Amino acid sequence: MAYFYPEPSHTFGEYLLVPGYSSDKCIPANVSLKTPLVKFKKGEEPKITMNIPMVSAIMQAVSNDTMAIALAKEGGISFIYGSQSIEEEAAMVARVKNYKSGFVTSDSNITPETTLGEILALLEKTGHSTMAVTEDGTPTGKLLGIVTSRDYRLSRMSLDEKAGSFMTPFEKLVYADAETTTLSMANDIIWDKKLNMLPLVDKEQRLRYMVFRKDYTDNKENGNELIDEGKRYVVGAGINTRDYADRVPALLKAGADVLCIDSSEGFSEWQRITLRYIHEHFGEDVKVGAGNVVDAEGFRFLAEAGADFVKVGIGGGSICITRETKGIGRGQATALIDVCRERDKYFEETGIYIPVCSDGGLVHDYHMTLALAMGADFLMLGRYFSRFDESPTDKVKINGTYYKEYWGEGSNRARNWQRYDLGGAKKLSFEEGVDSYVPYAGSLKDNVNITLSKVRSTMCNCGALNLAELRDKAKLTLVSSTSIVEGGSHDVILRNKFNSRE
Ligand code: IMP
Repeated sequence: MAYFYPEPSHTFGEYLLVPGYSSDKCIPANVSLKTPLVKFKKGEEPKITMNIPMVSAIMQAVSNDTMAIALAKEGGISFIYGSQSIEEEAAMVARVKNYKSGFVTSDSNITPETTLGEILALLEKTGHSTMAVTEDGTPTGKLLGIVTSRDYRLSRMSLDEKAGSFMTPFEKLVYADAETTTLSMANDIIWDKKLNMLPLVDKEQRLRYMVFRKDYTDNKENGNELIDEGKRYVVGAGINTRDYADRVPALLKAGADVLCIDSSEGFSEWQRITLRYIHEHFGEDVKVGAGNVVDAEGFRFLAEAGADFVKVGIGGGSICITRETKGIGRGQATALIDVCRERDKYFEETGIYIPVCSDGGLVHDYHMTLALAMGADFLMLGRYFSRFDESPTDKVKINGTYYKEYWGEGSNRARNWQRYDLGGAKKLSFEEGVDSYVPYAGSLKDNVNITLSKVRSTMCNCGALNLAELRDKAKLTLVSSTSIVEGGSHDVILRNKFNSRE
């Protein structure tokens, strides 16, 4: 006879936190969001501690090197997507590790042949008005000039005019040597010469970096950034249970700080084999997360297989249709609570703490606080990060509103069969994810700051100054569907709706 769980499984939107006593010390400025990323023994420090409990999802539409740098600056970690060639993924990891704060690799590059019309289209897409004109149109090609909005006047020029005829040519640019110029030297030149941007070139005049005046404050105040002992940003990388023998050494060589097996369902022999191989061949010091699971049994299996953290969640992702197509999964809140209880039990028994990551289905900012209160050590988010400037996808305008593209790893677009294949097929037999748009939301920094200020504020309402205290002190209640209605504004006509009818 099949096993029937005694209770229905629930998700975050069905819970609320009930406030506890807050002392006068309980103010957001005193709250720490530090959290362990990987397993550690009682009394010891984890090898990696994050400054904020957020990681970006292992997805093509979310985690590339630009995202990883932006998130590490705020204190979290990106897991670079593994559904690309080993070389491409390792190159992304290397770009994060080689990144020098304040030195930007140009992302809007054109050639002298690019027309004004094409420049305007690129501006619309990236939002960046400074474009490097390079011989071959690559970010590191020979620098021939720069185009900014000051170089063209739309009212007086045809859209067919080519960049070569109106760019500011290299000879007229102030530039500096990429090898010898430090960030503070670059900033001094920017101030002395009243520049908005200083290009740094090598001996062959190839563009290496740009330093922007507007980044000056950013470059100074990054107290929360997550860096390794060599002051390089910390970055993670996704792997699969197929090509790990080749992929893992390449990622480690590129400097990946932590790996994560990216799979839709982690309670499998494939994960045990992968974890064993990596730890035997590359050492216990190589940190590897595993998942996803949705119950205590799945957690125990991965803990005993050697996982350094365990990811929870099946079917809750915003782009996920696994529950509809296969009928597997579990309400994310119930799954998380079950797994976290088992983590605590395992810790009691063994003295080994294995962090738990709640992955997918976090829609509102308060869901994050709920997940942390339910026991998650950190949160993996896809949709949330996909909306920002730093995500790898195109920004598109539809009916006057900006959106970003966001697609699942189980969609035909991603072709990530390794994540779903249970052996043999080596292709996606059916889709488990959709291709979609999400509303564009601006910069990662601004959004993460707002989200975390809400988290800190709620933690204070619960009397908690850190995440361990939140887990201990939180009082959670399930809410009825009627009281969910009560939770939004109700029985009033919103002014903006009223005005739009006038
Ligand atoms: P979100 O934050 O709700 O958008 O969920 C992101 C999570 O969904 C990822 O971290 C994955 O665990 C999961 N995911 C990514 N792509 C797919 C897919 O195509 N089908 C099902 N789940 C997916």
